[in-house]
Amino acid sequence: MNRTSKEIVQENRDYTLFSWSVQGTANPMHITRGQGVWFWDGDGNQWLDFSSQLINLNVGHQHPRVLEAIKKQVDELCFAGPGFATEPRGLLGKKLAEVTGLAKAFFTLGGAEANENAMKIARTYTGRDKIITRYRSYHGATMGAMTASGDPRRWPVEPGMPNIIRVFDPYCYRCPFGKEPSSCRRECVSHIEEIMQMEDPKSIAAVMVEGITGSNGLLVPPDDYYPKLRALCDKYGILLIDDEVMSGFGRTGKWLATQHYGIRPDIVTCAKGLTSGYMPLGSVIVSAPIADYFENHMLWGGLTYSGHPVSCAAAVANLAVYEEEQIFQNVETEGAYLANRLEALKSKFQCVGDVRYKGLFSVIELVRDKATKEPLAPFNGTSPEMAKLAGYLKSKHLYVFSRFNMLWICPPLIITRAELAKGIDIIEDALALLDGELKPVLEEEVIHASR
Ligand SMILES: Cc1ncc(COP(=O)(O)O)c(C=O)c1O
Repeated sequence: MNRTSKEIVQENRDYTLFSWSVQGTANPMHITRGQGVWFWDGDGNQWLDFSSQLINLNVGHQHPRVLEAIKKQVDELCFAGPGFATEPRGLLGKKLAEVTGLAKAFFTLGGAEANENAMKIARTYTGRDKIITRYRSYHGATMGAMTASGDPRRWPVEPGMPNIIRVFDPYCYRCPFGKEPSSCRRECVSHIEEIMQMEDPKSIAAVMVEGITGSNGLLVPPDDYYPKLRALCDKYGILLIDDEVMSGFGRTGKWLATQHYGIRPDIVTCAKGLTSGYMPLGSVIVSAPIADYFENHMLWGGLTYSGHPVSCAAAVANLAVYEEEQIFQNVETEGAYLANRLEALKSKFQCVGDVRYKGLFSVIELVRDKATKEPLAPFNGTSPEMAKLAGYLKSKHLYVFSRFNMLWICPPLIITRAELAKGIDIIEDALALLDGELKPVLEEEVIHASR
């Protein structure tokens, strides 16, 4: 049955619910195929994927080695219950221990479930209840993970899960303490100690943070943030849970973003880049002391699809691609080029307030005016200018994730220089148009102020 793209979209709209959308305004694109950093829509348009779908398609669309591993596992054994041992499950656990420096992995279906289980494990292991998280964070959409998030998407589920305590973020461009990184006293860490004391440190099981905050602004912390946070957790016997769902597996050029800062978390959660999205899979990886604890204590957790053999086989192949095809080297080289281009955009355009990046994980923060830093769209909102910018990029078939006043550039890690340059050139044109539109407003304000 040959159906038109329009019919397929209509059927999706009629019979399925789309995430984070008022259903009447959902406008899904029909995607038909993908290859590397490209995908095609139902009208035959070729798009450059500057968002790696949902910042997860790290090895790009249709990598033959991952496809082959999935097909082989499907033919051999498509499913085994979570109580069975399989070869891909063991191989993957061993590899994850090696790359994280931790001990044992528990498998889930995605990032939210990984964080749910990480919090449960931390509570069981420490016998404490409270979890400290940050305001500008996203840990997933299930009830506990959503409550743990600071992201405004948590508001509708409140009161959610009890005993989540939120703290401020290392957001140097808009420091919540009004400081500058060169002269501050890292209040972004020291205020956490004060909060721990007010909350009774002996009641706090864990601090859970994103390795590098992703969808809440791509906040790259100062170099000594993590060593200080690690020391603070150690001082009070509090576990450090590192949510690497978005920032992990090569996105920043290392297995984990926190590896840039020389610390080791007690628990790591991951998903997205674990299989590059080819199969659903998440994982909670725990340190040796935690793993030892569960040798003679019950692990209160389970999922029908935990350790799914096809997902594990996809992950084993995907991790091998990272290593054997020197993907992290490409992230370093192309990340350096991206950094230069972003800094140039910041110097050139009034509307670019800040650029933040690590490897191929980056964001452009847009403002109405560089001096006042007034955001181009409010927190948890949008603006006609942001909508127009997104519309322009769409018209050029550049697929970019944008939210509030920010634009993320997070392409597949296999991207070539020419592909990266092509996408950034389009963004540069869009920013020139935006600056042109904002300029008359700015000039008017200057004239008004000088009267
Ligand atoms: C940092 C982080 N943690 C957790 C999640 C949730 O992962 P999932 O959507 O696989 O449940 C996400 C998703 O974007 C994320 O970015």
